[in-house]
Amino acid sequence: MTEIAKAVDLKQIEHLIDQYRQERWGLIPLLHEIQQVLGYIPPEAIPRIAEGLGLFPSQVQGVITFYEQFYTTPRGKNVVRVCRGTACHVRGGKTILKLVKQELGIAEGETTPDNEYTLETVACIGVCALAPNLVVNKDTHGHMNPKKVARLFSRKGK
Ligand code: FES
Repeated sequence: MTEIAKAVDLKQIEHLIDQYRQERWGLIPLLHEIQQVLGYIPPEAIPRIAEGLGLFPSQVQGVITFYEQFYTTPRGKNVVRVCRGTACHVRGGKTILKLVKQELGIAEGETTPDNEYTLETVACIGVCALAPNLVVNKDTHGHMNPKKVARLFSRKGK
């Protein structure tokens, strides 16, 4: 089953790699396109990407590691980012993070087994006046408190 999924994944990105064949400068745009299609950069795709662009796999891996926006594991349908900036921290951001972890049953950087949620933290999202904040996908939720966390993330039969 897993092998089939991998084969499908790589097939889905072949035409993207072909667009940048031997174009070393195209690595970052190509990685963005692959991530858009698959939701992440499968590690097993790295040798194929490197071969296509005329790079070493270590060079591709290096770029993926350097840029925080690239992911090598599948992400949840909903990405939750809890703010760890100073304003949010002093207004209880740490407790909010703890409650979100409890509610979702995952740690920072993890994805729920049903692929519904990925939990991350961010440094200041720019709306400090509403601290403590978190973001679910593109929606900012300000003035977070335990009740709001429960309402936002309570899930039937997790
Ligand atoms: S510190 Fe959280 S939004 Fe600025």
